[in-house]
Amino acid sequence: MSMYKRDLTAAVLAASGQYPVVTLLGPRQSGKTTLVRAAFAEKPYFSLENPDTRARAEVDPIANDRQK
Ligand SMILES: Nc1ncnc2c1ncn2[C@@H]1O[C@H](COP(=O)(O)OP(=O)(O)OP(=O)(O)O)[C@@H](O)[C@H]1O
Ligand SMILES: [Mg+2]
Repeated sequence: MSMYKRDLTAAVLAASGQYPVVTLLGPRQSGKTTLVRAAFAEKPYFSLENPDTRARAEVDPIANDRQK
C-alpha cells in the first residue's frame, strides 16, 4: 500500500521541540495516529482506548518515566 506524505509532519515535529505536549486533532480515520507514530517512531506508543492501559495511566501517570 502506498502512503500519502503528510505536510503536517514538519509542523508536529517543530511543535514537539517547543512544547512538552502536542495534540493533533482531526476527523475520524484521517491518519492522525499513523502520522504521529511515524514522526516519533523511536518513542513508545500507548493507546488510552485500551481500558487496561488507561486504568494504569490514571493510577500511576508517571510510571513509564520512572522506569528509565
Ligand atoms: N499517510 C497515509 N497514507 C495512506 N493511508 C493512510 C495514511 N495515514 C493513515 N492511513 C490509513 O488510514 C486509516 C486511518 O489511519 P489512522 O488510524 O492513523 O487514523 P486516525 O485519524 O488516527 O483514526 P481514528 O480517528 O480512528 O483514531 C488506516 O487504515 C491507515 O492505514
Ligand atoms: Mg487514531
